[in-house]
Amino acid sequence: MSAPDSTPGTAGELAGLRAVVTGGSNGIGLAIVEAFAAAGATVLALDLDPSAAPDGVRALACDVRDRASVTDAVDAAAEEMGGLDLLVNNAGISAVGTVEDLKDEDWHRVLDVNVVGMARASAAALPHLRRSASPAIVNLCSIGALNGLPQRVLYNASKGAVLSLTYAMATDHVHEGVRVNAVSPGTVHTGFVDRMLSRFPDPEKEKAALDARQATGRMVTPAEVAHAVVYLASPRAGSTTGTALEVDGGVTHLRARAVQASGTGAGS
Ligand code: NAI
Repeated sequence: MSAPDSTPGTAGELAGLRAVVTGGSNGIGLAIVEAFAAAGATVLALDLDPSAAPDGVRALACDVRDRASVTDAVDAAAEEMGGLDLLVNNAGISAVGTVEDLKDEDWHRVLDVNVVGMARASAAALPHLRRSASPAIVNLCSIGALNGLPQRVLYNASKGAVLSLTYAMATDHVHEGVRVNAVSPGTVHTGFVDRMLSRFPDPEKEKAALDARQATGRMVTPAEVAHAVVYLASPRAGSTTGTALEVDGGVTHLRARAVQASGTGAGS
């Protein structure tokens, strides 16, 4: 299955809406910023490193580990754009290892960004979102929330918490008209993956092996993740709240069905 054109966004789908994307200077966050702009939104990246944003992307300094920093950045963005309709909680970090490898400081460091950071940004955005005619929050989760990716116990647990956070926030704010959803990507072909592959003697061979591990025969593109976020943020998803949309090349559900079909998944 080949990757489609990398330019996502249905023209006008987010016309007139004002958005912030945490971690929007790089990777998936940057693809979301570009897709939001292509769909007609006014959008600002909020990032630990705003200088990393390419020309044409407006980024403000923001550290989601620091409540004052997040509140100041969200308020400044809302003031600059004349309000705020959409928050994408994308900033996230990872850690490699099992429970035996990881120290308490690793747990605090990752959960502080991946879980508490989302709660901080959401709390900062909600007063603005309540004044919007079409407010929505989209959280970046991962298939690791459900699939137990090996050697990623802390990352998986943090994304499990993102799933619970998404469902709970959707419940708490549905009566205020604020929709809250998540997108769960599989393995996404970002610069991070290319840097990791470049450390192998034959990067092309390693990439082919990584592609072959995906049910569709290739990694997910950042643009495909961004397109799912555009949809969930748009008024077209007006009846969708408290969901997580997998953009994983079928890994989660095709594998579950294959296990069931082979009989080894009975009762799971
Ligand atoms: P990345 O590492 O390429 O970019 C992350 C961005 O977040 C960077 O611009 C960084 O400066 C910013 N950031 C980090 N800490 C921050 C903080 N404390 N405050 C504000 N900004 C901060 O990451 P990538 O790969 O684009 O991932 C984005 C999101 O997608 C994360 O939540 C990640 O867990 C999730 N995801 C990524 C997958 C992948 O294969 N790359 C797969 C599934 C989920």
